[in-house]
Amino acid sequence: MKISVTLNGVAVQEDVEPHLLAAAWIREMRRLTGTHIGCDTTQCGACTILLDGVSVKSCTLLAVSLDGHAVTTIEGLAANGQDLHPMQAAFKENHGLQCGFCTPGMIMRAVDIAIHRPEADEAEIRRELEGNICRCTGYRNIVAAVLAGAQAMRAARDK
Ligand code: FES
Ligand code: FES
Repeated sequence: MKISVTLNGVAVQEDVEPHLLAAAWIREMRRLTGTHIGCDTTQCGACTILLDGVSVKSCTLLAVSLDGHAVTTIEGLAANGQDLHPMQAAFKENHGLQCGFCTPGMIMRAVDIAIHRPEADEAEIRRELEGNICRCTGYRNIVAAVLAGAQAMRAARDK
């Protein structure tokens, strides 16, 4: 089946098998390997992308379901000319990662939280991150990073 997707701002058309997972299309056909696959039970969140601006687990979607939609992966998060998106910069500054495996999915989820719950406090952020598992950090610095990143996104938006 042919799909037409706006992938990180670029119009893409491709023939895909009907059973192909969105995560596999992104990683293996489009070679955007920041989207990780860390489980086969839809629990870890390492595959999280933005679909029309909302975070979703790309391992639970078929590639054909992306047809006609806009997909953002970690590679497309920073605006043109920016080295890092404010949420990426906040993770860096707050040491919100160790091995980095969960980080792309964690950041995509964090961006969703910052957009849809801009005033979220620490407790709400912890609840909202329940679908993203980190095996390294203990979450303290991740939560601090999400708070700082959301604040930076608000400041950029209010400029
Ligand atoms: Fe998608 Fe784990 S790979 S939730
Ligand atoms: Fe290693 Fe999260 S930084 S899994």
